[in-house]
Amino acid sequence: MNPALKEEILARRTFAIISHPDAGKTTLTEKLLLFGGAIREAGTVKGRKNSKHAMSDWMEIEKQRGISVTSSVLEFQYNGFHVNILDTPGHEDFSEDTYRTLTAADSAAMLIDAAKGVEAQTKKLFKVCRLRNIPIFTFINKLDRQGRDPFELMEELENLLGIRSYPMGWPIGMGQSFKAVYDRHQQKLELYNPDNPKAIDTIQLSGPDDPKLDEAIGDEQLVRQFREELELLDVAGDEYDKERIDKGELTPVFFGSAISSFGVQTFLDHFLKLSPAPASRESSIGTIDPLSREHFSGFIFKVQANMNAKHRDRVAFLRITSGTFKRGMNVKHVRTNKPLKLSQPTQFLAQNRSIVDEAYAGDIIGLFDPGTFRIGDTLVDGESFEFNEMPHFSPEHFASITVKEALKHKSYEKGLQQLTEEGAIQLFKTYNKYVEQQIVGVVGVLQFEVLEHRLHAEYNVDIQMERLPFSFARWISGGEEEMKRFKEKQRNLVTDREGRIVALFENEFQMRTAQDKYPGLHFYENSFYQ
Ligand code: G4P
Repeated sequence: MNPALKEEILARRTFAIISHPDAGKTTLTEKLLLFGGAIREAGTVKGRKNSKHAMSDWMEIEKQRGISVTSSVLEFQYNGFHVNILDTPGHEDFSEDTYRTLTAADSAAMLIDAAKGVEAQTKKLFKVCRLRNIPIFTFINKLDRQGRDPFELMEELENLLGIRSYPMGWPIGMGQSFKAVYDRHQQKLELYNPDNPKAIDTIQLSGPDDPKLDEAIGDEQLVRQFREELELLDVAGDEYDKERIDKGELTPVFFGSAISSFGVQTFLDHFLKLSPAPASRESSIGTIDPLSREHFSGFIFKVQANMNAKHRDRVAFLRITSGTFKRGMNVKHVRTNKPLKLSQPTQFLAQNRSIVDEAYAGDIIGLFDPGTFRIGDTLVDGESFEFNEMPHFSPEHFASITVKEALKHKSYEKGLQQLTEEGAIQLFKTYNKYVEQQIVGVVGVLQFEVLEHRLHAEYNVDIQMERLPFSFARWISGGEEEMKRFKEKQRNLVTDREGRIVALFENEFQMRTAQDKYPGLHFYENSFYQ
């Protein structure tokens, strides 16, 4: 392989930050960008945050800031690495593409509020990362405030997420008494100064028993507790195991305070060293390894509509999986078997879009999309193949939907199709009912408003929606006989766009009852049947 290309690829780190709203993701992202020199002032990213749930605000933000609210990919150079951060919107009210964005990441940084522990949204995003077993690095945030015991937080990672942890650092004190974080690998002490948190003092120690530690902390009880805890970790904790980290079975844990930039650089340094370079992907011709295939290939993982009704153009996000992208290059759009010239690609940084001339495996580029792309589409140069299908994930809110004026049925269908292709909604059809009904499923309720608004604004179609009481969709598989019985007897069955059978449930109890009744069937949370 061309050594210059190999070097470019090996320098790339493409990851997403997963967290529950308010854990501090915007703050952490901003600090990372500051270290990377990508922004000069704090507040640049913060301004992007969509802090209210109201539709009008969201629309306004979309209009003012172009595509930044839901779709940012942030990119910067740091210490010889080329970093791409995929920004997954934190609010519950965003769509399934929050999940899908994770399919373009090679690793994830999981941010946890030390006082709150593992929260709902983190759990959901984590599960999606687990589907591909990508490495996950944990940053426990807000140590400047009183939080929960670090051992308890590690236990929670194991109990709620099923992942073991290896603390790379260990805090000394917390909240009012927060003094420092000890780096177990480099045996360094990073001292926290509440009066000037940004002035981080680092002391190299010979180990945790070094008397310099007692001197620096100046609190006998805290130091004793720290040494006891560290000993406990050494004796009873998991061993550092890079192989298990690579497989996503063990998460390295870091402690810090994003708002004070404390622990952030240590996190970034370790993260970039330990996290993987662009990974291989499975395709119709087998594994596509960026380090052995020189030809360009990539897949679309997200399509973002312009919220301005006058500009229907969309931006399709492409993850480059192999080779070099050059502006103006000709590629093949595999699904339609048509040649395509990639002439207006963009890369993203905070609120600005800039034209990109060259990009490499691991990078994300935005392609101007007049309506050509669908989620999951493969673009290739050279031998043709398709990447494996993208999964759908269980929506959490459902509504039956009809068009108000029957004459507008055509536009209505077209609009629904577009929104489905963008991944804003999932469309199901009732199964085995006299009158077939369309059912829309969304991950966040805001998408219902988006749907209504966009059909009206872009397709001049008004719809009637009736919310349904379901909270779960499960893709079903199993033996023929039992499947047949299930299809005959089970209520609230629908089919997805590919015609797969999906069961809708109102609550966990209902779901468990069905599982008990049909022990030979499998109920999956995603269309990958995983
Ligand atoms: P998000 O993107 O994950 O939703 O979180 P964001 O960064 O906006 O942070 C949520 C709140 O937590 C913000 O406070 C932020 O200042 C605070 N925060 C983030 N990191 C830390 C930390 O390390 N320590 C402490 N104590 N707080 C932190 P806010 O009051 O909601 O907003 P603001 O008025 O500070 O902007």
